[in-house]
Amino acid sequence: MKVLVLGGDGFCGWPCAVNLADAGHDVVIVDNLSRRKIDIDLEVESLTPITTINERLRAWEQVGGKAMRFVHLDIAHEYDRLLSLLRSERPEAVVHFAEQRAAPYSMKSSATKRYTVDNNVNGTHNLLAAIVESGLDVHIVHLGTMGVYGYGSHRGATIPEGYLTVEVPQADGSRFTEKILHPTDPGSVYHMTKTLDQLLFFYYNKNDSIRVTDLHQGIVWGTNTALTDKDPRLTNRFDYDGDYGTVLNRFLMQAAIGYPLTVHGTGGQTRAFIHIRDSVRCVQLALEHPPTCGEKVKIFNQMTESHQVGQLAQKVADLTGAEIRFQANPRKEAIENDLIVDNRCFIELGLQPTTLDDGLLAEVVSVARRWADRCDRSRIPCLSAWTTRQAEALRTHA
Ligand SMILES: NC(=O)c1ccc[n+]([C@@H]2O[C@H](COP(=O)([O-])OP(=O)(O)OC[C@H]3O[C@@H](n4cnc5c(N)ncnc54)[C@H](O)[C@@H]3O)[C@@H](O)[C@H]2O)c1
Repeated sequence: MKVLVLGGDGFCGWPCAVNLADAGHDVVIVDNLSRRKIDIDLEVESLTPITTINERLRAWEQVGGKAMRFVHLDIAHEYDRLLSLLRSERPEAVVHFAEQRAAPYSMKSSATKRYTVDNNVNGTHNLLAAIVESGLDVHIVHLGTMGVYGYGSHRGATIPEGYLTVEVPQADGSRFTEKILHPTDPGSVYHMTKTLDQLLFFYYNKNDSIRVTDLHQGIVWGTNTALTDKDPRLTNRFDYDGDYGTVLNRFLMQAAIGYPLTVHGTGGQTRAFIHIRDSVRCVQLALEHPPTCGEKVKIFNQMTESHQVGQLAQKVADLTGAEIRFQANPRKEAIENDLIVDNRCFIELGLQPTTLDDGLLAEVVSVARRWADRCDRSRIPCLSAWTTRQAEALRTHA
């Protein structure tokens, strides 16, 4: 199948692209390399040394991989080029990773809030409008987030895969049931853009019968897959800084370099997780099981397990002997939350979840130890505060 991988130079996109090429698909990576530019602006680098996109592609061919092509294009601002690309490539599917994906970065300043909204919402809308204008029947597989459901209390209810059946009371006392998009409760500007994406998909699916699979992904941990491990030039990025590093990879990296594990607040926050190998597999499964024409947006919860952040820190501490340090929470969020998630769609398609206990935690620690000298410790703390109140708490507890 011909597939465009938008954002295919990023942390989730790169291993996904090589996996699809390895499975025999004809892959074109589309990326504006904005993630690499943000690293330059923030004066921080991936813990693992990553090669340029063209060197990655050369190395992939040299290890015997099916050739992939690269198109440098900004999907949020180069609409005409995006439309021409769709017309010339005529892909059967587009995997859409091309968004600004860090909640802390989105909350740094009004400039990063506006950039995140502009980039993410325009990018998704341009893609949808261009598919309609091209007249092609293209299946979009989009990477969304579990954060669209919100991290408040769900009062023990299981979060369904995108749609909630509700009972609506009528004035005459009768009731009817309806399946609606699960209400959204974004916790940052970044998460808000993902909830807006959902509405864009809902509308274009209803109006233009665009086929969409929206993957509500948990926090991705790990770094490489068997394919990106084949050659050092294929190595995937490993973000550890306070803006882009995600919680579990940060704990593992902190343990590796002897830095106390940075637990925000009480550590009672519960989040959903998925290993990068499973993330890659899920995208392939979603691509190979597209919705039919006229089917409403398919929504999958792309996660394999939920954990409380404090318990995760304890698990990493038990494994490595690391110290835990509780810190003021830069985020405005519930002190504790429950998160019980239905993820049957992928399990029924054959996903065999990789769990935290599979020895992969130790593997990430050893990757981090190998590159410890590339770490800039001053970039580890999360300094991006959600409100002035959180900023004040960070200053007081610094
Ligand atoms: N990493 C996670 O833990 C995680 C969890 C849940 C969901 N997701 C979602 O998965 C997707 C990919 O995340 P990631 O971790 O790989 O992020 P990433 O920042 O590493 O990759 C995103 C890629 O998209 C590119 N990009 C951004 N805007 C673009 C534009 N306008 N035009 C073209 N390319 C553009 C970037 O240059 C980058 O290569 C995101 O949409 C993210 O919200 C990620």
